[in-house]
Parts: sequence; structure tokens; C-alpha cells
Amino acid sequence: MTKAGLEDVVAANSAICDIIGPEGKLTYRGIDIHDLARQSSFEETTYLLWFGVLPTREALQQFSAELASHRALPTQILTLMKDFPRSATPMDALRTALSALAFYDPQARDSSRDANIAKAMRVTAQTATIVAAYEQIRRGREPVKPDTAGSHAENFLRMLFGAEPDPLYVRAMDLALILHADHELNASTFAARVTAATLADIYSAVVSAIGALAGPLHGGANEQVIKMLQKIGEPDRVEAYVTERLQAHQKISGFGHRVYRTEDPRATHLRQMSRELGEHVGNLRWFEISRKLEEVVMQQKHLYANVDFYSASCYFTMGIPIDMFTPVFATSRVSGWTAHILEQYGDNRLIRPRAEYVGAKNVPYLPVDRRVKAAS
Ligand SMILES: CC(C)(COP(=O)(O)OP(=O)(O)OC[C@H]1O[C@@H](n2cnc3c(N)ncnc32)[C@H](O)[C@@H]1OP(=O)(O)O)[C@@H](O)C(=O)NCCC(=O)NCCS
Repeated sequence: MTKAGLEDVVAANSAICDIIGPEGKLTYRGIDIHDLARQSSFEETTYLLWFGVLPTREALQQFSAELASHRALPTQILTLMKDFPRSATPMDALRTALSALAFYDPQARDSSRDANIAKAMRVTAQTATIVAAYEQIRRGREPVKPDTAGSHAENFLRMLFGAEPDPLYVRAMDLALILHADHELNASTFAARVTAATLADIYSAVVSAIGALAGPLHGGANEQVIKMLQKIGEPDRVEAYVTERLQAHQKISGFGHRVYRTEDPRATHLRQMSRELGEHVGNLRWFEISRKLEEVVMQQKHLYANVDFYSASCYFTMGIPIDMFTPVFATSRVSGWTAHILEQYGDNRLIRPRAEYVGAKNVPYLPVDRRVKAAS
């Protein structure tokens, strides 16, 4: 019996991330996301996802320095990106630039675990640089060179904005990177694992994941959320908007989840951060519309906000361009994708499910001059 969308189908054993949907509980390597959100950093979380345990102080310093040492892109990648058509979205640019990175990776053809960890390190460090560089390039500016000093979040924002980032924005970005880092077998991670399971290389697997993340039902939802908030414009227009949309059987972006049946624990932190950022810049409008939306969607459809809902107002308040929201998601999730790719390689079997055939059977082959009706 087919399960539409593979709902509730268990498709892998994994020791990386656990979601208990009915309780709204999320853990990375057994550690509660709330503890990581309050106390960890993106670098530490990435170490945890890849190696299974929290690093010692010394190991964390070494890991962070190594990650930082890989931030710079090969010049050929920058040249390539400068030639992208103006119509290329930042997600298109990320997908294509990241794919091309494989050409310049000295260990591209080495599939040992050590080489795969080194490649995961480069892919994770350089995803942030690609995203930020494309923002500069498409505005006709020279990309900001990465600095080996400073955290991943801080460096990313400096390259993205071309200026020293506000410390609260750095904290907000670090929080967003931690919260988006992994989420079990979400669509993009599954895509990464399917590709890795053919024993294709890490770059191919990450490119598959980027493609899957782009859609509006997955990572693309955060861009849809801010467009919706802009369209609504004022908290007192929320009720009419939601009613109209639900009556037309249309979805409200940033709500609902395949696994959670209660509050998405990531939304708890991003809601708080959205408010803090709004207060910081003296503009609570997006936060207030969001709060009202939560209230009305709960009343009318009993749906909770997901991770994409409050990340949208956080990024927008920080001045991140809307079409950069999903690439920011990728900048974080690449740590989870690579953790899953490493896990898949470690205990691999080709992922090859079956389809329930529902098409026509025993159809005779008609020579072309005897066919009367073309397929529409
Ligand atoms: C995340 C999502 C794709 C999960 O989808 P799913 O598990 O396949 O759930 P379904 O689309 O089958 O929805 C189940 C029911 O909830 C409703 N529903 C789910 N999400 C909804 C939303 N955002 N707005 C309105 N109704 C929604 C569906 O219309 C359906 O209702 P019905 O039974 O009355 O027809 C879905 O909730 C969605 O499209 N959300 C908006 C996009 C989004 O925020 N994506 C980011 C996810 S982190």
C-alpha cells in the first residue's frame, strides 16, 4: 500500500537527529535543541553533527580554525559567478557554483572517510562564501574576501553586507544556523542520502539537496512567508487574509509540518529573536503581523508555525534580501546534509524503493502510421 509522500515511512537508521512529533521534541545527537539554541554555536553544532559528541574546548578551537581556513573560494568560481546571467536567483547561483567547486577540490576523487570529512569541511565553509559573494556580484560589487578570524556567522554577515555586522545580528544568524542545521529525513537530506547511496561524491549529493531545498514546500517557504507578511501589511488585515485563503483551499506559508503535531521547537526561539530584532531596530510591524497570523491560523485551522515562519521576519529585519532567505537556510543545512552523507557512506546500501504501478497494461505497439490520436 503506497504512502503518499512517504508519510511516516522509516527509510533509514540514523544516529544524528531525532524528532518526536507529538511532543515537539528535537534533538541533535541526543542533545535537546533548546540547550543548543541557548548555549551552542554553529561550529560546535556542526562538530556535534559530524562526530557525534560535543568537542572539548581545544577540539572546538581547532575545528573552528580549520573550518575558517577553508572559507576562500577558488578564483575560478568567482569568475564563473560573475558570468551568471542576471536572471539567476541566489539559489540557482548556489547550486551551480557549488557543483563547480568539485572541479577544484584536490580530493574530489578520494572517497576515504578522511577525505570526505575534509570535503565536508570545505563545502560547509564555502557555501557561506558563495551565498555572500553572489549577493555582492549581482549588485555589481566585488565580493568581500573572507576573513579567517571571527565566527562563521559573523564572517558570513560581513561578506553578505560588506560591512561590520551588528552583534545582535551575529547572534541571530548563529541561532538560525544552529536551528536549521539538521532535521532528520527532510526532503533535501533524503535527496542527499539517495545520491550518496549510489556512492556518488559529496558534491553531487549536496547539489541534489540544494535542488530539493529550493521548492516552496521546503526551504523556499521562508521567502513566501515574508511576501505574505508584506501583502497583509497590517495586523488588522490578518483575519480577512487567512479566511479568504483557507476558503480558497490555499496554504498559509510557514504553517504546518509533516512530523510536528505541536509547536515546532525551532519556532519558539525564532519567535523570541524576531521580537528582539524588531525592538532593536524600532520596528515591530513584521513581528506583530506574525503573532496575529499565528493566533488566527490556530483558531481557523489548528496549525502551528514552523521554522520558516519566524526566520522570515528575523532575516528581513536584519536587512537580508528576500531571495537570499533560502540560501541562508542552505548555509546552515549543509552541515546536516554532510553529516547524513558521511553516515550514509559509513553503512551504505543503495536506496532503491519500488513504485506501485497504476498505468495501463498489455498495450499493443502501434506502428506510427496507424496512430490516430496524439497524447495531450
Ligand atoms: C509542510 C507541509 C508541506 C506538510 O505537508 P503535508 O504533511 O503533506 O500535509 P498536507 O499538505 O497533506 O496537509 C494536511 C492538512 O493540513 C492542511 N494544511 C497543511 N499545511 C497547511 C498550511 N500551511 N496552510 C493551510 N492548510 C494547511 C492541508 O490543507 C490539509 O488539510 P485538509 O486535510 O483539510 O485538506 C505543509 O504543511 C505545507 O505546505 N506548509 C506550507 C509550506 C511550508 O511552510 N513549508 C515549510 C515546512 S518546514
